[in-house]
Amino acid sequence: MNKILITYSTKTGNTKKVAAAISELNKGIELKDISEVTNLDYDLVVVGTWIDKGTADTKALKFIESISNKKVAFFFTLGAYPDSQHAMDCTKNITELFEKNNNTVVGHYHCQGAIDPQLIEFMKKSFGADHPHGPNPERIKRWNDASTHPDENDLINAKKAFEEIFKNF
Ligand SMILES: Cc1cc2nc3c(=O)[nH]c(=O)nc-3n(C[C@H](O)[C@H](O)[C@H](O)COP(=O)(O)O)c2cc1C
Repeated sequence: MNKILITYSTKTGNTKKVAAAISELNKGIELKDISEVTNLDYDLVVVGTWIDKGTADTKALKFIESISNKKVAFFFTLGAYPDSQHAMDCTKNITELFEKNNNTVVGHYHCQGAIDPQLIEFMKKSFGADHPHGPNPERIKRWNDASTHPDENDLINAKKAFEEIFKNF
């Protein structure tokens, strides 16, 4: 197998969980927090990020912008539903960030991730139900639905997706 790096940015641990699950696929895979990456001497660089305002969070964004001419794959966790337009837009945004610097995206995966309870409290206190981030019934349901993710199934699906991707490496 070629050299594979899995690196992730995480605020509350969701993205790290997915990264750890994927890294179990093969002992040769290196798993690193994004702040610990010192070189990009790998055949495939896999970047995990949490979604902040519809794209990769600041740390992952900076890292992605520093990569060029590599084979890459990515995964992300987000508060929105995985089959939502928002999730599709995030996939598109992150793909474009990589492709801007001539990287080749060989695959990607995403799943829902529990939203920081402090942020939910903040949104409940600060916004009315008609605000774009306010606590209307639909949004409260989505926050509750996200709270159990990533779950066992998400991790199994992440492994399946990356097993396919790693076949070519
Ligand atoms: C400041 C902040 C901004 C966020 N922005 C979005 C967003 O734009 N879209 C979304 O679907 N989820 C958003 N989320 C939810 C996180 O992406 C989600 O909970 C993710 O799983 C957190 O991953 P982590 O535990 O690895 O930090 C946001 C969360 C925070 C704290």
